[in-house]
Amino acid sequence: MRIGMVGAGYVGLVSGVCFAELGHSVHCVDIDEGKINLLKNGSCPIYEPGLPALLVGNQEANRLFFTTSLAEILPKVEVLFLAIGTPELENGCADLSYLFAAAEDIGNYLEIPQLIVIKSTVPVGTGEKVEAIITAKMQERGLDFKVQVASNPEFLQEGSAVENFMHPQRIIIGVSSPGEERIFRQLYSKLLQSSESTLVVMDRRTSELTKYAANAILASRVGFINEIARLASKVQVDIDMLRLGIGLDRRIGPHFLNPGPGYGGSCFPKDVSALINTADENNVDLSILKSVKSSNTQQKKYAAKKIIDHFNDRLTQIKIAVFGLSFKPGTDDIRESPALTIIDMLLAKGASIFAHDPISMANFRRAYGVRDKLHYLEVPGQELFDMDAIAIITDWDSYKNIDWLANKNAEKSQCIFDFRNLLDGKLLTSYGYQYQRL
Ligand SMILES: NC(=O)c1ccc[n+]([C@@H]2O[C@H](COP(=O)([O-])OP(=O)(O)OC[C@H]3O[C@@H](n4cnc5c(N)ncnc54)[C@H](O)[C@@H]3O)[C@@H](O)[C@H]2O)c1
Repeated sequence: MRIGMVGAGYVGLVSGVCFAELGHSVHCVDIDEGKINLLKNGSCPIYEPGLPALLVGNQEANRLFFTTSLAEILPKVEVLFLAIGTPELENGCADLSYLFAAAEDIGNYLEIPQLIVIKSTVPVGTGEKVEAIITAKMQERGLDFKVQVASNPEFLQEGSAVENFMHPQRIIIGVSSPGEERIFRQLYSKLLQSSESTLVVMDRRTSELTKYAANAILASRVGFINEIARLASKVQVDIDMLRLGIGLDRRIGPHFLNPGPGYGGSCFPKDVSALINTADENNVDLSILKSVKSSNTQQKKYAAKKIIDHFNDRLTQIKIAVFGLSFKPGTDDIRESPALTIIDMLLAKGASIFAHDPISMANFRRAYGVRDKLHYLEVPGQELFDMDAIAIITDWDSYKNIDWLANKNAEKSQCIFDFRNLLDGKLLTSYGYQYQRL
């Protein structure tokens, strides 16, 4: 099929490239000219394992194209996906202004009936609003065919996005006619041949809310295990054994039960807020989710406080290596990363920070630039000898490979704050480090 993908960010780019890999002809459009120029030249603007090779392969196969002009691609495509950012506004609502601006643009240029699909995560009822915006713009131009707007939320996870897209556990579509469903079956036919993928067909509003409910339940699990871990550390309980003990219950399962310094990223924080907002607007009190949100904010601060309390009034003389800046391994995305809260709090207390990440240094530098007492480490082993503390905030595998013994400064008391339970605490203690978990 001929597909248009509006928005070439984490979701749009991965989806566009993967649709091309499935044999479709894909035209991606983005308003960010710099990004489109990079992509036209076969350079991938984001870090995502497996993506660069598929990008170049499908461009060479003439199935994948990039442009900044929506008007140029509209006549060429049968289905148009919207994969535009829906960030959090200050009041917690999803900011739909970018999506609505794109809808206006579509209304300005659409000439023939096409299926418009919202892939972005959007509050329930947004499909109706997008449909109304496009229809109104078309009517201004004297066109009055029915615009079809369907929902097909994306469930990929950064760091394994290509794998997730190509092997989905389920594909959810919110449609209003058998014709729309047929188009999706054709679009995803190769993926649906595999027994591991289920197509779940529902109405548009249900599809929109299903996406939020999925993220909200995952965020809740993270919040729950973080709170249990806080209690466990107070009452001398082994959180790893506890996790094993509860995760083996099939009703619970082992996933999303690893305590850490709070969830971050471009999805959980904003989606939890947006869902609370939708509920408030409808006079429904989501008290559990409100607690999840505040518990997560507390958790980020709790992690920072663990370091602050350890050094107390010596903090201004302390050098701390912060390992891991992205909100999770496998991505260069630092949006809402717990590392940012922790670094901000430590800098505010006067500590010297030496930040490192294997992939997201450029994004972090762009966000933080030059600041007093903030230093950047190009190699994680660099200057380790000189550090008073090393805080592991993101569980990149490469941190396991550091030669902790060779880097131990025997003259210095050095503490490793392993906030992801990544390292062998007993071994590190035997090397002379102090070792703390959350
Ligand atoms: N990132 C994830 O892991 C993930 C997973 C599932 C769902 N989602 C959802 O997918 C949506 C997109 O998220 P993302 O992380 O890809 O965002 P992103 O910020 O990485 O990308 C959005 C892109 O849209 C472009 N854009 C904005 N307005 C445009 C317009 N009018 N025309 C063309 N392009 C335009 C931006 O320039 C940007 O490149 C969000 O609603 C998000 O919640 C994200």
